[in-house]
Amino acid sequence: MNIYTAPANYRPHNKLLQGKTLLVTGAGDGIGRAAALCYARYGATVILLGRTGGKLEAVYDEIEASGGPKPALVELDLATANEENCINLASGLAGEFEHLDGLLHNAGVLGERRPIESAGYSAWQEVMQVNVNAQFLLTRHLLPLLKASPSASIIFTSSGVGRTGRAYWGAYAVSKFATEGFCQVLASELENTSKIRVNCLNPGATNTAMRRTAYPAEHPNTNPAPEDIMASYLFLMGEDSLGVTGRSFDAQLT
Ligand SMILES: NC(=O)c1ccc[n+]([C@@H]2O[C@H](COP(=O)([O-])OP(=O)(O)OC[C@H]3O[C@@H](n4cnc5c(N)ncnc54)[C@H](OP(=O)(O)O)[C@@H]3O)[C@@H](O)[C@H]2O)c1
Repeated sequence: MNIYTAPANYRPHNKLLQGKTLLVTGAGDGIGRAAALCYARYGATVILLGRTGGKLEAVYDEIEASGGPKPALVELDLATANEENCINLASGLAGEFEHLDGLLHNAGVLGERRPIESAGYSAWQEVMQVNVNAQFLLTRHLLPLLKASPSASIIFTSSGVGRTGRAYWGAYAVSKFATEGFCQVLASELENTSKIRVNCLNPGATNTAMRRTAYPAEHPNTNPAPEDIMASYLFLMGEDSLGVTGRSFDAQLT
């Protein structure tokens, strides 16, 4: 698999995302929060989707206080979201927005860190539901709104363990392999028939709650803050990546 990065020293135009409407899942915390704030700073109207209302409201307030375009807020638990929820979400958004110009699939759960031999089925199912099935449902039902955009970008969030399997990463690693596969299938389907580009982005080790849970012995400052890895998130979401599709990116240079 070829892995790409954003152009070295990528410097986006400060109105890169002006006039665009973007949906970010898991927008209340970690990398999703940083991406939502960053996208708003570059001019986008951001639809903040997540499971914890209070966290989403804090991001909403932060965007408003900094003078960004008025965001929208969708409280949805992807662990329990069903097809009807996603159909309703899509029709609600279609009533409010003419098109959707970007979708960042960021929400994810780590699940159990243990051998397959002792893995629990319900924990396995939850990881697959949030990290894979919910991505399918959201993508499937938001595609009409994305197709209405003059140029849209879908970004899937991958991981190093979604490219090379590693012991004890269980459902999480398998879900990220599935995410890479989903990205390739969708990109291939849309390549010649629509103006939607579809790519995978591995943020790399980043100082968030998920990383601290996965590596409790690691000093958190070993890794960059989510705000420090936003160049690739901007590159792939904005029109500097027009024509780039079906690729797997790393947000951090190794
Ligand atoms: N941090 C890393 O080093 C790293 C490395 C590789 C890949 N990643 C990937 O990057 C993405 C973001 O991770 P992160 O490190 O920012 O993790 P995080 O700090 O744990 O944030 C995860 C986000 O997903 C949301 N979420 C979790 N379960 C959800 C559900 N059932 N419904 C709706 N939203 C849900 C969380 O909402 P709440 O805050 O409300 O729980 C939170 O906003 C994930 O896909 C992760 O796999 C991270």
